[in-house]
Amino acid sequence: MKALILVGGFGTRLRPLTLSVPKPLVCFANKPMVLHQIEALKEVGVTEVVLAINYQPEIMLNFLKEFEDKLHIKITCSRESEPLGTAGPLALARANLVDGSGEPFFVLNSDVISEYPFAELIKFHKSHAGEATIMVTKVDEPSKYGVVVMEEKTGKVEKFVEKPKMFVGNKVNAGIYLLNPSVLDRIELKPTSIEKEIFPNIAADHKLYAMVLPGFWMDIGQPKDYIIGLRLYLDSLRKKSSLKLAVGSNIVGNVLVHESATVGEGCLIGPDVAIGPDCVVESGVRLSSCSVMKGVHIKKHACISRSIIGWHSTVGRWARIENMTILGEDVHVSDEIYSNGGIVLPHKEIKSSILKPEIVM
Ligand code: GDD
Ligand code: MG
Repeated sequence: MKALILVGGFGTRLRPLTLSVPKPLVCFANKPMVLHQIEALKEVGVTEVVLAINYQPEIMLNFLKEFEDKLHIKITCSRESEPLGTAGPLALARANLVDGSGEPFFVLNSDVISEYPFAELIKFHKSHAGEATIMVTKVDEPSKYGVVVMEEKTGKVEKFVEKPKMFVGNKVNAGIYLLNPSVLDRIELKPTSIEKEIFPNIAADHKLYAMVLPGFWMDIGQPKDYIIGLRLYLDSLRKKSSLKLAVGSNIVGNVLVHESATVGEGCLIGPDVAIGPDCVVESGVRLSSCSVMKGVHIKKHACISRSIIGWHSTVGRWARIENMTILGEDVHVSDEIYSNGGIVLPHKEIKSSILKPEIVM
């Protein structure tokens, strides 16, 4: 089977992290987002993944060569010279997606995290006579997403409304699809939205089906949701009794500590923390609800909560970083600094406190 991952777009809502790498390469729980998806696709027998990209393809390709070899899966890039939206890239990659076998193919939004129940999706797709299956999930704030109204019993989609202004329902498109090759005949090679144009059309022909996604789900394309997604992901590891979760007297709740990271004496880490490769966490540090990316150095007695620390950054002694602070790559925060929701661009030095949420250029 084949799969296409929509990795284009500038990832503006996850800046400053996406100023250094494309969104799908931003690490989530110590692994680039897109790798979570590729690994899960591989498990259900996908042999080729096409990355539909329109931004920084070189960085993406260099990075993925390594994983092609490690995972024994073919990864190709389909480059757009202009952004083709969420459907146009399928037309562009048509030759890579169909081989005449009539087999359906996967399409994924690159910024959604879940347990990727692809095997269940394949089973459901084969059980109905439609052309396309989308996974849906219940959320509290449906207006941010594509809302799906479906027949409960059969899963047949009656209506698909992208980002509705008025309440239509609370089941939303999870950005995980299985499509028959015939769907490609509905898409022209031009900027097109699969949500606004293609899905409503298929639904009108009674050929669109939806399946409620089992387990957790989150679109992690925004910092606040990224932190929520991390909690849900770690919680699902806990339910599976994963051996990846850290244990120890200085650990509270669900925590990932990369094997190459070091954590000093008298720290208190957790809940809901991921510490990436080559990180150094000195003694007496307090971390909760935060993601600490590769090569970060956190000095003695610093305290970080509900924040994301970009790779190769340092946080000074007694610093207090909180309230959705996001440090881009290679940011250096001096000793005793307080950051309340600062969004700091890459390669900066922070020498005075950030008292209210703001962007530091
Ligand atoms: N190749 C390519 N080209 N990819 C693109 C383009 C483009 O022009 N535009 C967006 N993408 C990719 C993004 O990188 C992302 O992986 C995916 O398409 C969806 O775009 P987002 O910008 O993240 O959309 P959204 O989160 O507002 O809404 C979408 O996702 C929701 C679920 O998270 C829609 O599919 C909603 O219906 C859905 O509920
Ligand atoms: Mg998104």
